[in-house]
Amino acid sequence: MTVSSGTGHDCTDDARTADFVVVANRLPVDKEVLPDGTVAWKRSPGGLVTALEPILQSHTGAWVGWSGVPDSDDNPDIEGIDIHAVPLSTSEIAEYYEGFSNATLWPLYHDVIVKPEYHREWWNTYVEVNRRFAQAASKAAAEGAIVWIQDYQLQLVPKMLRMLRPDLRIGFFLHIPFPPVELFMQMPWRTEIVEGLLGADLIGFHLPGGAQNFLYLARRLAGHAVSKGSIGVRSKFGLVQVGFRTVRVGAFPISIDSESLNALARSRSVRARAAEIRRELGSPTTVLLGVDRLDYTKGIDVRLKALSELLDEDRLDPAKIAMVQIATPSRERVDSYIAMRAGIEQLVGNINGRYGRVGHPVIEYLHRPVPREELVAFFVAADVMLVTPLRDGMNLVAKEYVACRSDLGGALVLSEFTGAAAELRSAYLSNPYDLDGVKDSIAAAVDQDPEHGRLRMRALRRQVLTHDVERWANSFLTTLAESQSTIPGVDRTLAPAAHQLDDDAPEG
Ligand code: ADP
Ligand code: F6P
Repeated sequence: MTVSSGTGHDCTDDARTADFVVVANRLPVDKEVLPDGTVAWKRSPGGLVTALEPILQSHTGAWVGWSGVPDSDDNPDIEGIDIHAVPLSTSEIAEYYEGFSNATLWPLYHDVIVKPEYHREWWNTYVEVNRRFAQAASKAAAEGAIVWIQDYQLQLVPKMLRMLRPDLRIGFFLHIPFPPVELFMQMPWRTEIVEGLLGADLIGFHLPGGAQNFLYLARRLAGHAVSKGSIGVRSKFGLVQVGFRTVRVGAFPISIDSESLNALARSRSVRARAAEIRRELGSPTTVLLGVDRLDYTKGIDVRLKALSELLDEDRLDPAKIAMVQIATPSRERVDSYIAMRAGIEQLVGNINGRYGRVGHPVIEYLHRPVPREELVAFFVAADVMLVTPLRDGMNLVAKEYVACRSDLGGALVLSEFTGAAAELRSAYLSNPYDLDGVKDSIAAAVDQDPEHGRLRMRALRRQVLTHDVERWANSFLTTLAESQSTIPGVDRTLAPAAHQLDDDAPEG
């Protein structure tokens, strides 16, 4: 992504020129004001940008989002993307982003790992900020454009945007898990959220289970007729009849730009850097690696506790292993993140205090983002990749590791509670709530027979290289393009695989 610091255009222009508009909480780049007052733009954290950046590079279009800092309407110049910044005030960041998005929705949708907080002021600000995003999208989109709204921060935008611009074709994709019905029912504004999403023509989830949960709620909470039958992966879409419109609901597992990572990982410079990393770590027999945003859903504590017990039980030799944990700072003002960081850093200190030697800690802990080429070198250097979330919509890191292992080396330990586990069946799968099971998976991965490991990695790579992010976007956008016209009275085209609408589905 080529970024220059100039201001692209005046965001008050009512431009209405883009045929394809992505609307996401964040812009693909975050604004940073340096101590000397100059402005720098750096890549935004997280899987959403990883997935969407290559798509926007291949479809000329606009991106509506927030710059990551208060009160900024600067539009950075990014080659091939027309940026429309949505300014947020300090109190909106506190109530909409840190509050309702990340202390209410995030924990609720991730199995209430921490207790969601429900505050009416946060909800009011969420509504207000969603309205602002809808207005910005409405200004950017050309007549009849495709608008693709992203993620849990913007669940009301589909309905708001449809009211402003009935001519648009609107898609929505949720990048995090959609929760079980019993948990969603806690939400005081549950009906408003379901109705907000139903403003879209197509609503996408990673997994059929999430899509199925939503379909059920569309009937139970919003009272719409919904289709019968189970939803498939990129097929057999659910249908919700909303007045004259038929909304499709489907499962589209997201992925990565597999081929570009594969190529980068094979480059001479990355291979040389990977070898150098191993030397810098003291040339251990086994390098273990974790790469995550520092988030309580990621189960960083789970892998550290497992490692600690394996060392205590002499199942791992501290002289032969080195673990690297790279943790990008995330949501650093939210209480649950502050508490979690302290706990993880204590665990790292405890393990290093007991098993490290001078100049050779067992765990190297980096609390910062690392450049992409350096990250790929870490993937190439690692014998065992530890991905142990308690819940994760997909987890792109697991797929990135696999894409980087053209040598068929390495082993992936993967939590069953990630979306990726549905596709990466040849990983060492484990339940993160079963510490003994996680320990056994790590020990098996460390001790794996190289030939057996190659067979596993070959199967994993077949999946990741054939199911890349382009396929994800194409399947979603093709389904969206096939979705019905939104104008009453116009013929409605339903996919051949579409289900019958069910007016009599039992309440369950
Ligand atoms: P999430 O979207 O919840 O952060 P994912 O695993 O789906 O989780 O995506 C994370 C993305 O961020 C991946 O592309 C990963 O490579 C990137 N990433 C995570 N940690 C770092 C880091 N420390 N430095 C650079 N990139 C990182
Ligand atoms: O994929 C989940 C997600 O919340 C994205 O919406 C977001 O871009 C990413 O993780 C990083 O989170 P944040 O934008 O809160 O730093």
